[in-house]
Amino acid sequence: MCSDRSAEAHDLSAVPLPPDTVGLLEGLTTTRAIRRYRDEPVPDEALRAILFAATRAPSGSNRQPFRFLVLTDGPNAQAAKKIIGAGARRIWGGKRTADQYEQGSGAVADSPKARMARTMQEFVDAFERVPVLILPCLVRYRDPMPSEGASVYPACQNLLVATRALGYGGVFTGFNFAVDAELRELLGVPDNVFIAGTITLGRPVGRQGPVRRRPMPELVYGERWDEPAPWAIDPPGTAFTSAGPPRSATRHEE
Ligand SMILES: Cc1cc2nc3c(=O)[nH]c(=O)nc-3n(C[C@H](O)[C@H](O)[C@H](O)COP(=O)(O)O)c2cc1C
Repeated sequence: MCSDRSAEAHDLSAVPLPPDTVGLLEGLTTTRAIRRYRDEPVPDEALRAILFAATRAPSGSNRQPFRFLVLTDGPNAQAAKKIIGAGARRIWGGKRTADQYEQGSGAVADSPKARMARTMQEFVDAFERVPVLILPCLVRYRDPMPSEGASVYPACQNLLVATRALGYGGVFTGFNFAVDAELRELLGVPDNVFIAGTITLGRPVGRQGPVRRRPMPELVYGERWDEPAPWAIDPPGTAFTSAGPPRSATRHEE
């Protein structure tokens, strides 16, 4: 369990942000989903910097409808981790079966698929011990519409990249959606607020591998749909993967 945070907030008003550990472009191109954390708290100074970066994100008309519930080790934090942990275990249990994580290469202990399944299982099993749980929220001022997420998700990505910049790691998940009503009740979230996701943060355990994505020409078009832009060429050393979740031996997944 994480150690207690001091009751008296240390005065950060005269303290500048900490220096980056990586450059901006390097940070953007190397930020992975980190699901394994050391059992240590994230200091207020780092949280302040990470959340400052999040709150500098763009939003429609600069309305800044994003809000962040940052839960560390208070009683509500512990209760929220418990609620989301239970939801996460249900969701992962269903996905593990539906996406056949035990089949095909998943049965081979050191395959990427089996490793992913192990990481996910450890993540959901230890959810109550994540050092920081953040619920990014969107305050609605009109009826829900498809593009509204564009005013909250850029802030989430700022948050994750800033996390990486300071040597921490995090992951965005949708675990909250399974337990939305319980979270609202626990945390007093009003009806006009959309809880847009669940982000966990902490000091990473182990080394992270490279970011793997599809080759740029499959993702970046010029002039016409499906026509790769001629300059869309992956730089040397790029690692690739197909679109996930992992393919099973018997089924081509979405
Ligand atoms: C919209 C969205 C939903 C996601 N939902 C989950 C989730 O429910 N659980 C989880 O463990 N990771 C979730 N992720 C993290 C993705 O699995 C991860 O970003 C992706 O696999 C790439 O990982 P990598 O950067 O380590 O290669 C989500 C990411 C996004 C952007």
